[in-house]
Amino acid sequence: MAYTFKIQRFNPDKDKRAHYEEYKVELEQTDRVLDGLNEIKWRQDGTLTYRRSCAHGVCGSDAMRINGRNRLACKVLIKDLPEKITIEPMLGFTVIKDLVVDLEPFFEKYRSIVPYLVNDDPPGETERLQSPEDRAKYDDGTKCILCAACTTSCPPFWANKEFVGPAAIVNAHRFIFDTRDQGADERLAVLNTRNGVWRCRTVFNCTDACPRDIEITRAIEDVKRTLLYGKQ
Ligand code: FES
Repeated sequence: MAYTFKIQRFNPDKDKRAHYEEYKVELEQTDRVLDGLNEIKWRQDGTLTYRRSCAHGVCGSDAMRINGRNRLACKVLIKDLPEKITIEPMLGFTVIKDLVVDLEPFFEKYRSIVPYLVNDDPPGETERLQSPEDRAKYDDGTKCILCAACTTSCPPFWANKEFVGPAAIVNAHRFIFDTRDQGADERLAVLNTRNGVWRCRTVFNCTDACPRDIEITRAIEDVKRTLLYGKQ
């Protein structure tokens, strides 16, 4: 079946501003949007630029706006879309070329919340054990693949690029509620600042955008509650 891909293009070497170009592609119903982009790049226009790697929803590199919603191109089936598909880069970051945005500010925020286990106790003879109940407290956040779909769909982030953003908060939550970790105070201090967790207006866009179905808004509320009342 024939599909029309309307793709936002921008080449910093020759374009003053972004524009749209259209491509016709024959695709099967079982194909995904990424198959359509590959078809265009490999057979029609090799200059089309986008990130992708695993093609299986694991690496998080091909998040983009598909018909106005942040999705992973490798996870969206063509059969679930109309015959005209509009593809644009994620909002809120500088476009480097076509669908590739500069994610360095995103990873800077991620690094600010100390996204690794902090524990200065001397290592014991065995691994640090944890009950299944304690593991369950932060399980959801471990599914994050850092695709940035949540942060770039967040209106408070669009309004203020210094907001730490939902992805960084979810990753802070993952360690704050890990019973083996000792770095919660440091992370909570980062999130209790002007551009921290209180910028969240509970819009739920982040939860809707997450390709891993992480309950992001709930994690953010957990962190807010912890700042107000301490760890429950
Ligand atoms: S290409 Fe890896 S998540 Fe889509």
